[in-house]
Amino acid sequence: MKGRVEVIIGAQWGDEGKGRVVDSLGSRVDVFARYQGGSNAGHTVIVDGKKYVFHLLPSGMLYPGKLCVIGNGVVVDPEQLLAEIKDLQSKGMDRARLIVSGSAHVVMPYHKIIDKAQEAFRGKGKKIGTTGRGIGPAYVDKFSRCGIRIEDLFHPDVLRDKLEFNLEDKNRILTRLYNLEPLPFDEIHTQAMNWGKELAAYAGDVSRILYEALESGKTVLFEGAQGTLLDIDHGTYPYVTSSSPVAAGGCVGLGLGPNAVDRVIGVVKAYSTRVGEGPFPTEDSGELGNRLREKGGEYGATTGRPRRCGWLDMVGLKYAVRVNGMTSIALTKLDVLSGLDEISVCVAYDFEGGRLDHFTGNAGVLACATPVFERFEGWKDDIAACRNFDDLPSAAKDYVRYIEKETGVPVQLIGVGPGRDETIVRGL
Ligand code: IMP
Repeated sequence: MKGRVEVIIGAQWGDEGKGRVVDSLGSRVDVFARYQGGSNAGHTVIVDGKKYVFHLLPSGMLYPGKLCVIGNGVVVDPEQLLAEIKDLQSKGMDRARLIVSGSAHVVMPYHKIIDKAQEAFRGKGKKIGTTGRGIGPAYVDKFSRCGIRIEDLFHPDVLRDKLEFNLEDKNRILTRLYNLEPLPFDEIHTQAMNWGKELAAYAGDVSRILYEALESGKTVLFEGAQGTLLDIDHGTYPYVTSSSPVAAGGCVGLGLGPNAVDRVIGVVKAYSTRVGEGPFPTEDSGELGNRLREKGGEYGATTGRPRRCGWLDMVGLKYAVRVNGMTSIALTKLDVLSGLDEISVCVAYDFEGGRLDHFTGNAGVLACATPVFERFEGWKDDIAACRNFDDLPSAAKDYVRYIEKETGVPVQLIGVGPGRDETIVRGL
């Protein structure tokens, strides 16, 4: 094919700053494509000093003349999507064209209720810490083959039929399992029909549109949400999201073959964060964790929850390189580490008296694994003004070179501050 596909994925537990990296690449991209997840994601993009947070829209929506697509692999909450579209319209910022795959599944009101009810039922020890956006229950319906797809919203008879079946099933779950009120058919049916009317203008065959864009030489960016260690197959199951954030998920979630992909950019935060429950070997619940959280502004874009923070986990990062076929690294928030005397990186785990050199998605093992740290000299200087690699203090350069040596992947972009231009570009 004449065009190019680049995939952007999160290499950790999400919140690596993917939106910002997408923004840096924006000018050379023609089509921005979301392939999995839903409104559990939160991409923050700052343009002209204004902050935009998207949950469903691809980050490219702010670029004039670009095409943004939401693929079949995404679960779409129409209420949220329409609110994001209207918000951009009211600010005169709906600059790109949007296409939503007709085969993307719809997050229905009962999915959100069941998500929250299940979490409450799980109680303290077993909670996943979901975003409550109905993501898991929507994917459950997709895989149990009773889900409602975007294209169903345009066909009243199909919608009625599917909704009747689903509501009967879900109302049984709500009333008998969770002691909740049943949901009224008419209200939800009318709401879904209205969504259909509003979304009809955006629906399309995403796979074909992308294929044709590539045939005509365009550059397409697959925009991953969440991160590798939250992947349903490769993450720390069951403390994961219900989709495939890894790079291969892009092909499934957009309808293109794997040979379409030219480059896989892993976005890596210079330290680690995690939001929600689940094992996190390098977590620091003390002073360091607080410092990273405050300096890095580590609060969830979707739920506002404080993120758990700790040192970089090289064991997890090498795993992310492997399972994504990562070819480039974009290292974000290096400036957050400035001012520390010493920086640690987890290079292996101690587990039951032995040493683990490879990451495992086995949450039970990881929960009992203690990190083996290698220590590096820190740097005191503020690095926000650095625009070339050589402008960085030598200890910061050593940290970047160490990541390249251990992963075997070049660090081609370095974030040195929150602003759009506070970036060192080394070939990305
Ligand atoms: P769900 O995706 O809402 O089902 O949540 C499952 C897990 O993924 C929870 O631990 C969430 O905190 C986490 N999660 C979901 N979306 C994101 C995200 O965009 N960033 C970071 N964590 C996320």
